[in-house]
Amino acid sequence: MFDVGVSDIAIYIPPYYLPHEELAKARGIPKEKFHIGLGNYKMAIIPNWEDAITMAANAASHLLEKTGTEPDEIRELVVGTESSVDHSKPIASFVHGLLKIGPRCRSYDIKHACYGGSAGLVSCIDRAYRITDSTYKAIVIMTDICRYDFGSPGEPTQGAGAVALLVRRNPCLFSMDTSLNGIFTKHVFDFWRPIGHDLPIVDGEYSIECYLMALEGAISHFCYNLGIKWEKLLGNLDYIIYHLPFGKMATKAHRHLIEIAYKDLDSESREALYTETYYKKVAPGLLGVKEVGNIYTGSVYMGLVSLLETEGDKVEGKNVGIFSYGSGCGAEFFLCHMKSGIDKIIRGLRFKEQLDGRKKITFEQYTQIYSRSCEEVDYYPEEVQIFKGPLTRFVFTGFKDHKRQYV
Ligand code: HMG
Repeated sequence: MFDVGVSDIAIYIPPYYLPHEELAKARGIPKEKFHIGLGNYKMAIIPNWEDAITMAANAASHLLEKTGTEPDEIRELVVGTESSVDHSKPIASFVHGLLKIGPRCRSYDIKHACYGGSAGLVSCIDRAYRITDSTYKAIVIMTDICRYDFGSPGEPTQGAGAVALLVRRNPCLFSMDTSLNGIFTKHVFDFWRPIGHDLPIVDGEYSIECYLMALEGAISHFCYNLGIKWEKLLGNLDYIIYHLPFGKMATKAHRHLIEIAYKDLDSESREALYTETYYKKVAPGLLGVKEVGNIYTGSVYMGLVSLLETEGDKVEGKNVGIFSYGSGCGAEFFLCHMKSGIDKIIRGLRFKEQLDGRKKITFEQYTQIYSRSCEEVDYYPEEVQIFKGPLTRFVFTGFKDHKRQYV
């Protein structure tokens, strides 16, 4: 039996944000609806000189740096994304070039809404287990720009960011036994973006129903694989990270789980159990969604980064349950067994530093930036120099002969 899983994690957040107070004021909505009703306080805004490729490359470059990994050691580069920039050329190919990874590396994108990155992660972990080359290393990146129509109910849940994970044998951060993973898939139209549409079509209420149905399906498969009854689930998990399209979704998901697992308890005891376990096991993963918003594929992994940032080395040796959901829909529930000695990994995250160093923009600047088509690029090197984040290594400068250019 080999120990396989994730050795390190890196996150990249764009350098601008809009506070929800400003959005609420401009839209004539009480700010409490966004803060309490949705659980979000700020949304990351991606400037014109960044895109899903730069965020992916910036996250992965930080990952290589913090682990001391040479680009040539990477045998597989997988990008989960729904923010593709080309019908044929994957984002992975751009990232492969920007990071100067060698030719003996399989590189490709995976798409299944917010679930795509998790599908890539599980398949790389399986490969690390099966392959005869014990030095196999893979980078799995989740990168997305979450966008909805101006003034739509989805608008306050927007965000942008990328997360990169290093997969290998004898991992330093967590191990995963993929044979236990609970899976759920069903063809539904809850959220989708037809070819030619810049923004998704969303059936908001139905999407929440589908999410909860998938949670139930994936967890019941997980419990079956583990050979336990539903009511034993919480006892096996020290923390739970749910896919986070907005902060309040975590309360809806956790409440649903408690209702199913403890249906025989009276409602008062169920409520007490909900409150106790929510604050202990779920809330420590919510920093990112409150400050950044939905980052689609990376959302649940930003939850993991938030947990590490908030709890620090208390997470060592603990079992973290992760529920990854992608509209359409595909979902997986899996267990990450956290390693000990992870303080260096946590210190190297620089997540708070990125959040605290961001520039606040106005509502007018937000609408201006997001009104431009993706073909219009205003590249001002002086602006980039002033406002780029501490981990910005790559920026998008425009097109030449229909080819995207980066420096
Ligand atoms: P909405 O129109 O804001 O819904 O849309 P609402 O009017 O029901 O209000 C939301 C909450 O705010 C309610 O609380 C209100 O009571 C409360 P709840 O009943 O939910 O507990 N509220 C207030 N609270 C305090 N003070 C006030 C106040 N007013 C109201 N004054 C919706 C919400 C999530 C539907 C919308 O934002 C949306 O369409 N979002 C996009 C879709 C989405 O995020 N779906 C989630 C599940 S699907 C998923 O996660 C996949 C996804 O990530 C995509 C992918 O896979 O790629 C989205």
